[in-house]
Amino acid sequence: MFSCDTIIRNASVLDGSGCPSEVLDVAVRDGLICAIGSGLKCHTQIVMDVQGLTLAPGFIDVHTHDDLAVIKSPAMLPKLSQGVTTVIVGNCGISASPVCLSGEPPDPMNLLGQADDFRYPSFAAYRAAVASAQPAVNVAALVGHTALRNNHMDRLDRTATRAELDAMRFQLQDSLDAGALGLSSGLAYLSANSASTDELLTLAQPLASVGGVYTTHLRSETEAILDAMQEAFDIGRASNTPVIVSHLKCAGIANWGRSSEVLHALETARITHSVGCDCYPYAAGSSTLDLRQVDERVEISITWSTSHPEIAGRSLAWIATAWNTTQIEAARRVQPAGAIYHSISEQDMRRILQHPATMIGSDGLPNDPRPHPRLWGTFPRVLGRYSREEKLFSLTEAVHKMTCMPAQRFGLEGRGLIREGYSADLTLFDPEQIIDIATYADPVQPAQGIEAVWVNGILSYTARGATSKRAGRFVSRGRTTWLQ
Ligand code: ZN
Ligand code: CU
Repeated sequence: MFSCDTIIRNASVLDGSGCPSEVLDVAVRDGLICAIGSGLKCHTQIVMDVQGLTLAPGFIDVHTHDDLAVIKSPAMLPKLSQGVTTVIVGNCGISASPVCLSGEPPDPMNLLGQADDFRYPSFAAYRAAVASAQPAVNVAALVGHTALRNNHMDRLDRTATRAELDAMRFQLQDSLDAGALGLSSGLAYLSANSASTDELLTLAQPLASVGGVYTTHLRSETEAILDAMQEAFDIGRASNTPVIVSHLKCAGIANWGRSSEVLHALETARITHSVGCDCYPYAAGSSTLDLRQVDERVEISITWSTSHPEIAGRSLAWIATAWNTTQIEAARRVQPAGAIYHSISEQDMRRILQHPATMIGSDGLPNDPRPHPRLWGTFPRVLGRYSREEKLFSLTEAVHKMTCMPAQRFGLEGRGLIREGYSADLTLFDPEQIIDIATYADPVQPAQGIEAVWVNGILSYTARGATSKRAGRFVSRGRTTWLQ
């Protein structure tokens, strides 16, 4: 007979490893899973009988832009309500730290917040701010290449000089020493597009000795995607660092149908190097409005506009008609703006989502007043729509893609599995009911079927909503494991 804080009885446990479920009891003490078995005998305050429900490790959102949201809106409802217990921030080359701004944040750093939200000149300062905000979810962070460039360069439309690179590398090393997971880049954006491959190679060099990762929003997700993937893999190989391709997709109508080719390139690279990717389960992307992506054949909706706030929620086609102009001209006039691009084929997205190297990342934009529904829907949509209804993969595999696989690849040690001694990040859901509710028309809606979420052993969310207990922690880089 042992004592524990909570025991969850008769759960159908999917432990995250990819092994089939088993009906078991799981006991939690002091934030950790302390026992797993059937008919466990223990002294405890709280007993929950959850027969018929599935207990999984808390989901890990590997691709987020929650850097400032975890501090400004620490309840983190969009994520907690999906069963997410850990977010990885700092993706796509943009991070909240280390950042020193002299003016407005460059595009797309403005997705994270406004100039006065960027208050963290060092990674350690950001880490301390997260700890004192006590968000409801755990936070682990990458350092953004664009953020480093902006700290040390007078203009971003060129590659960095030797001296600038030294300064960037110093800041990256300092961040890695303070627990950063690695480096992210956003080479498609104009703020990083002029960076040479050598610039990235030089920056990526310190990653290997500390076991960091390199994640990248590729230089191209359209026609030149294979070259862009090659560049990413070259950077990874030369620096001996694992590569994670962010939100892998074939964007733009001319590129539809190329997912097999793209996945083949990924598989070839995986034979000799640690390579993976993440994906969100939607056939539309979202970011700041990029004139290069305006295509009259693609539905583009404007989610916000600084110059014309009144057109938020309208499609570019609608605006062009109303203003009696072309879509590209309308797009110019509404800048700076945010957009949702329906520029991905559902078939390609499904094929990428299904691939065994693919993790789940929402890429949600918490600052957007009319966000892409992925912010509130990604994880339940993968489980309910793509696993249960469409049978793209088993529930077991779906859970593996959002728990153990990301924990191992990003080095979130002691998380991502239901194992004795692991952190008690746990998500209880109804496998028959779980589904996303957020839509493009009505995107701010919690998903259905999440019954309970524990973060570090604390019950933080139930079907009735958040419990108002926030138990997230800052998670430092640990050892990474790449099995495939
Ligand atoms: Zn991106
Ligand atoms: Cu992103």
